Amino acid sequence: MIEIETSGAVQRIRLNRPDKKNALTGEMYAALAEALEQPADGVRAHLLCGVPGAFTAGNDIGDFLAMAEGGMQGTPVVRFLHGLSRCETPIVAAVDGLAIGIGTTLLFHCDMVFASPRSLFRTPFLDLGLVPEAGASLLAPRTMGHARAFELLCLGEPFDAARAQAAGFVNHIVPEDELETRALAAASAIAAKPAEAMRMSRGLLWGDRTELRSRMDEEIRLFSERLASGEAKAAFTAFMDRSRKSR
Ligand code: COA
Repeated sequence: MIEIETSGAVQRIRLNRPDKKNALTGEMYAALAEALEQPADGVRAHLLCGVPGAFTAGNDIGDFLAMAEGGMQGTPVVRFLHGLSRCETPIVAAVDGLAIGIGTTLLFHCDMVFASPRSLFRTPFLDLGLVPEAGASLLAPRTMGHARAFELLCLGEPFDAARAQAAGFVNHIVPEDELETRALAAASAIAAKPAEAMRMSRGLLWGDRTELRSRMDEEIRLFSERLASGEAKAAFTAFMDRSRKSR
């Protein structure tokens, strides 16, 4: 469900669970964390991509329900979030279609984002009784200002590719049939730069990430609390029942 392939100095990490719109399971988070933490020797850029029409529909809601009921640990998710905030290798994302929940918030950790015109960015945290995660409560207002971040993170408003580009978290809008080629070319160009100078320059742009990490930990604490709330359990159960009924 996570496919890793190295092309020159670029590690392509593909989310590949198309029957569930690439919803992320614990196993997938663990594989993603490992890919970020331990890339093969010589990897100088990550390229993160999905399948046609789905970057990811966010965390698997069945897993959320299992966590809410205490039957599952959120450890792989936390490991992945920490991996993102500690990653020293540039990350390029190629988004085609759905980028829901963490599918949007992880993009704030990417250095470049390419998106197809049919992409849809949405974070329905509040509707699920949850709070924003992945440092988005800090990074989104920095990127787009409080007003737009509020619409995205607290109202769960959908952002299309043009709105996401205007908000500053998408670099280029590229037709879907050219998307991965263009994103791979960008990742290869990044990988071809002098590695040490890139590492230092990127570090300067990111600055001290201590505040980011402590915000993430605060979000994780609140998120875990919310997972067990009645509001969240009701929303997860409604989604799972809808899915069962449509079969
Ligand atoms: N967790 C678990 N399963 C998911 C999922 C998720 N986050 N997103 C999609 N799926 C599953 C659906 O249950 C469905 O499974 P089924 O075929 O066994 O019924 C399958 O993926 C296809 O999804 P479907 O809802 O039929 O596709 P759609 O194109 O009509 O809608 C979405 C796509 C993403 C709008 C819709 O699936 C959705 O709202 N998903 C939940 C998104 C979400 O809230 N994520 C968490 C964010 S914090």
